Amino acid sequence: MNCNIGVIKGDGIGPEIVDEAMKVLDKVAEVYNHTFNYEQLLMGGISIDTYGVPLTDETIEKAKASDAVLMGSIGGDTTTSPWYKLEPSLRPEAGLLKIRKALNLFANLRPAYLYNELKRACPLRDDIIGDGFDMLIMRELTGGLYFGERSTKEVDGKMTAVDTLTYNEDEIRRIAIKGFDIAMKRSKKVTSVDKANVLDSSRLWRKVVEEVAKDYPEVTYEHMLVDNCAMQLVRNPRQFDVILTENMFGDILSDEAAMVTGSLGMLSSASLNETKFGLYEPSHGSAPDIAGQDIANPIATILSAAMMLRYTFDLDKEADAIEEAVKQVLADGYRTEDIYDEGSTKVGCSKMGDLIAERIN
Ligand code: IPM
Ligand code: MG
Repeated sequence: MNCNIGVIKGDGIGPEIVDEAMKVLDKVAEVYNHTFNYEQLLMGGISIDTYGVPLTDETIEKAKASDAVLMGSIGGDTTTSPWYKLEPSLRPEAGLLKIRKALNLFANLRPAYLYNELKRACPLRDDIIGDGFDMLIMRELTGGLYFGERSTKEVDGKMTAVDTLTYNEDEIRRIAIKGFDIAMKRSKKVTSVDKANVLDSSRLWRKVVEEVAKDYPEVTYEHMLVDNCAMQLVRNPRQFDVILTENMFGDILSDEAAMVTGSLGMLSSASLNETKFGLYEPSHGSAPDIAGQDIANPIATILSAAMMLRYTFDLDKEADAIEEAVKQVLADGYRTEDIYDEGSTKVGCSKMGDLIAERIN
């Protein structure tokens, strides 16, 4: 298969982790006889430094023209980086939001899985971990607070900031359908998370999810308030299969879900629209504090590349091979610093990529 992949390395640890994902993809190409063509695209801080804006229209067009985009991470230290002196619409994150919207990537899949080998990196008690957990957060990605109207201005002599949370029923329905569809391929349970005791947008969310649920009689579903969900994630994460939620709640809960699996460095993600196109990126940020030191964990990005093979290119066998290689490396005792524990072998970012690539054959 001939695949055209747009590559956004981005800022901070982005370039190093993407290099490792490409190393692993190249090994897949060699073993399974595919051709992966990469086109480097600039987004985030590096695009600001080069073009003065975090994402150019030309880059959007190039991303659209590719089959899929593999991304690292964007942004810098929000207190020290000059990028954060710019007005909000010119900062690195604005590029990420713009590409999500421009490509209509409304469905963000964030699987959080506890590897047996990483049980010791999990901050939860053994009796809570039990035989591990395996959940997927289906986060709505192009609506809600992230894209509502906002302003900061003086009202009655006081500086006043406003952000608006808007959802229409179509936006809720399409993400709910994605959530139930994926539940059908997993353990057939959906937990829809909202704040319906306070928010109108959540009350509409609940109503639409209930309508969608009628088409999936095999799927068990429940509604859960977001504060309760945050608590349940550390009290009993094993109860979850698919967590279906809006943009902001999904942002917060996915970091929490990632951490209970041992490290943010393990959580991959796929952002999809109604076509086969997808943008694949780790759920974690650009970690500017550890950039360029060869200590970042490339696994979330490597697993994101596996998701790309599975969802955009239908290369299930190849995706399985990457996931298997990651398991193997962990079973063989190799760890980056973030998941290191005594008795395992500490390796850097690049070595981790080598070890995973070696196990694809
Ligand atoms: C994420 C990130 C982004 C988000 C930031 C960088 C804008 O935290 O992908 O989870 O909030 O969506
Ligand atoms: Mg986030």
